[in-house]
Amino acid sequence: MQHFHDKTNITLKNSFEQTQFIDWRTQPRSFKTYPKFFRRYKLDDYEELKFIKNFGKITTSKKYGKEEVNLRTNPSAGGLYPCEIYIQIRGIKGFLSGIYHYEVLEDSLCLIHELSNDGLEYYFNETSSKKFVILISNVYFRSAWKYDNRAIRYLLLDTGHQLASIFSSLKLENINFSFNFNFDKKRLNEEFGFNCQEFFQGAVLIDNEKETKPKKLRERPVTVCPTDYFIKNSFIEEFVKKFEEENFEIKEELSFFENLSKEQLQTAINKRRSVRAFKKESISKAEFAFITENIFKISQKLGIEIFFINNNIEDMKRGVYKNVTLLKEGDFKEIETKLAFNQKLAGESCFTLFYTSKEEKYAKAVIFCAFFAHIISLKATHLNISSSGIGAYFDDETQNFLNTKNNILYLQAVGR
Ligand SMILES: Cc1cc2nc3c(=O)[nH]c(=O)nc-3n(C[C@H](O)[C@H](O)[C@H](O)COP(=O)(O)O)c2cc1C
Repeated sequence: MQHFHDKTNITLKNSFEQTQFIDWRTQPRSFKTYPKFFRRYKLDDYEELKFIKNFGKITTSKKYGKEEVNLRTNPSAGGLYPCEIYIQIRGIKGFLSGIYHYEVLEDSLCLIHELSNDGLEYYFNETSSKKFVILISNVYFRSAWKYDNRAIRYLLLDTGHQLASIFSSLKLENINFSFNFNFDKKRLNEEFGFNCQEFFQGAVLIDNEKETKPKKLRERPVTVCPTDYFIKNSFIEEFVKKFEEENFEIKEELSFFENLSKEQLQTAINKRRSVRAFKKESISKAEFAFITENIFKISQKLGIEIFFINNNIEDMKRGVYKNVTLLKEGDFKEIETKLAFNQKLAGESCFTLFYTSKEEKYAKAVIFCAFFAHIISLKATHLNISSSGIGAYFDDETQNFLNTKNNILYLQAVGR
């Protein structure tokens, strides 16, 4: 996987070569829809399923020129939304047990496969059937259209944010769940007829239903093209093949929202946005501590090292920190801006986080950097503090500046 990371570095040299003009009229569709005659169920009509809306519902729309763009509970690099969600549901009264596709635009579930004695659990080697199996897939061309090969990183980062959106929605309802990255991704990609255009990244399993082991799917769900057109990218497809073999487990306890009430967390989910510019006001040390509570400790357990630069946190020395230890005192606003591909957000923040890792399970590390970034964005939103993920930065220069051999996986600016 290191090969794929190195090949997608932004360097001073290739940044000059990558300044081609983007014609937004050619953007591939970012919503997958099954045929009109498929059965659909509005989430608002089912009390037990309403929580699914928090996974990706539209929370605002913005006009870019003539185009109306829908923004969702989860952020996305370039607003391209490569993630799709499939949910297998069992044992809900008055609801057909089946595999559904979550249709964000309509806030509805579209039935794509009716269950009998079969089920997705078969591909997870599960010995019991589950109430819910949630699968996240990536439609790679949506991101590759703009970012070319570097899209492999944004796909993983977007997946991490999507996973954290699901995590927050389940925490909100006090639903027990486990993440799962150990399933037969290759086989399931084939069963869904994805034909390399789409591939599964991760899953969330919820509650045991019965002690019976479901069989493999009786028939393949109908194949629907997830975009209106498609251009193959062999580099990304090679990456997907490698990724299909990368299995990993998350055993660490992830507790982040203990101090937020249900209403507060729901408000933060609804209000989360990526900031475009900061007012350059400070935040307090207590606010910093609240936003980052448990993040440094848990991320280290997952092989992620977080550096941050304090630009404007009150009562704390300005400078570069590794986890919570001050490495270099000083004002680094200008260099931060340069490192972040000359984006002012990085230098004008109260603090900018640099998520790094040398973890050999590459996908795990990237997905969970974005997962932590998402938690931070929700907690910051609760305090009316803004933030934005930053996926464009100069890789080698950032490594040199931080004096680390770790891969630089993601940046995040947080401030007022
Ligand atoms: C992986 C990732 C990378 C991003 N990189 C940048 C970036 O480099 N610069 C920037 O201004 N915004 C960046 N964003 C923010 C997106 O532009 C933003 O999420 C998207 O426009 C949707 O808006 P919203 O987050 O307010 O819903 C990034 C978001 C993600 C998830």
